[in-house]
Amino acid sequence: MSDVSSDTPKLTRRPEWTALADHRAGGQPHLRELFAADPGRAERYVVRVGDLHIDYSKHQVSDETLALLQELAVATDVFGQRDAMFRGERINTTEDRAVLHTALRAPRDAVVEVDGENVVPAVHAVLDKMAGFADRVRSGEWTGHTGKRIRNIVNVGIGGSDLGPAMAFEALRPFTDRGLTVRFVSNVDGADLHEAVRDLDPAETLFIVASKTFTTIETITNATSARTWLLDALGDDKAVAKHFVALSTNAEKVTGFGIDADNMFEFWDWVGGRYSFDSAIGLSLMIAIGPDRFRELLDGFHTVDEHFRTAPAEENAPLLLGLLGIWYGNFFDAQSHAVLPYSHYLSKFTAYLQQLDMESNGKSVQKDGTPVEWQTGPVVWGTPGTNGQHAYYQLIHQGTKLIPADFIGFARPVDELSEELKAQHDLLMANFFAQTQALAFGKTEEEVREEGVAEAQVAHRTFRGNHPTTTILAPELTPSVLGQLIALYEHKVFVQGAVWNIDSFDQWGVELGKVLAKRIEPALTEGAQVPGLDPSTTALVAAYRSLKEV
Ligand code: F6P
Repeated sequence: MSDVSSDTPKLTRRPEWTALADHRAGGQPHLRELFAADPGRAERYVVRVGDLHIDYSKHQVSDETLALLQELAVATDVFGQRDAMFRGERINTTEDRAVLHTALRAPRDAVVEVDGENVVPAVHAVLDKMAGFADRVRSGEWTGHTGKRIRNIVNVGIGGSDLGPAMAFEALRPFTDRGLTVRFVSNVDGADLHEAVRDLDPAETLFIVASKTFTTIETITNATSARTWLLDALGDDKAVAKHFVALSTNAEKVTGFGIDADNMFEFWDWVGGRYSFDSAIGLSLMIAIGPDRFRELLDGFHTVDEHFRTAPAEENAPLLLGLLGIWYGNFFDAQSHAVLPYSHYLSKFTAYLQQLDMESNGKSVQKDGTPVEWQTGPVVWGTPGTNGQHAYYQLIHQGTKLIPADFIGFARPVDELSEELKAQHDLLMANFFAQTQALAFGKTEEEVREEGVAEAQVAHRTFRGNHPTTTILAPELTPSVLGQLIALYEHKVFVQGAVWNIDSFDQWGVELGKVLAKRIEPALTEGAQVPGLDPSTTALVAAYRSLKEV
């Protein structure tokens, strides 16, 4: 198995790392100088993958920087680790699992083995079962308990069992059946379920309970309340069979909840939660957009999988984006990374990436358990442009922090818009290009003075520039393009985890809070004495209880 084990040199002592540190210490020319010396970088620093045109010319890098970053990737065996993932090796070492979300989008005739067994037929069997079910719901053949057509789909799940389908439903709204109402419930705050169902007719509502483990307290609590809501209205336990389906790896828990095994769509432990949305977890989306569009989405993912697996290093988009993130995170001490989509439909895209990136690479020990002595995953954040321009972009332009950013935009608006609304698209994209230009090149004091600005204001109106951005352009936001974008980020996250020598596929950091919540709950509900509560939390629990009683 390909692994960077504890007897390999510490990352920061590798000559390839120190070469990068020296290169950084030597100082980087301003982006203005880089472009003045080499305008051709605008054409050269572009990679194309599938429908994506990825421009990384506005980064503080030269050919030398890129070569040094590539050397680090070679030294840390990124491609060897990639191949081990695609081969189905158990690269998630702390959970002793293979990591094969790439098999979920493999074509029918592909062979991907886990422990000597080809998993592709099982993947396609579930996709076929999902397609059959989706078609029956969409056509009205699948009816509710009273014989009414299903018009509302409510996905109940959290984390990876929510964010992917919720994000993709927003992204692909123009491709959805507009006759269906599709909602997503994740928060254990009862208000979430209340708002999701308050205007729905239970007889027309299908709940999709999405949980890999089927033990997640938020999801099981919400699913139980949803069942009560349904049965209160329909008055017959048999209604559950027509109004509840489950997406899970845990058949025993699903049947224990009362959902028929026939109404379960399975996936496997080699699919991580945050990598699961093109498994059965995508059922709500498949019902909304139909099986053919869902297949286009999977094919988009697969295009980028193949690119990542086969493209040479210098043209390999996930590798490049991963290395650029390492350049800023590890050598400029950048703490965060902004993802700024110029599409209203991508309003949940960055939230989705937060789990993908931060749950994967928010780690501080290496694969062998020894502490990392280098920065790992960044804080990922952002909202769609142009709204952010009138809120937090000020800090990106003139604040004290270096915030590398990805700008994602589309050449064409969605077809469904009126001609007048379509015409707004060029204005949206003018903002898109203006921002990356301003961030990179800024405005010098001389330029400000030439405009006749009073001397006292010159400093305030000067833009230092030199803020790095990646521009990702695609023709339009289709299911395939969405798949390509997500796979691009999945593999970028993989590259970074591989260099940092961390397990990007476990998430032990979420466990402690879950255990403590379970322990604290009786103190809130019954005032029980909870052993081991620290003084601060004990005082807060007391304050909560007295406020509750008022
Ligand atoms: O937050 C931890 C986590 O395990 C995520 O990784 C996962 O996506 C989410 O909880 C939901 O888990 P499940 O699908 O098992 O309900």
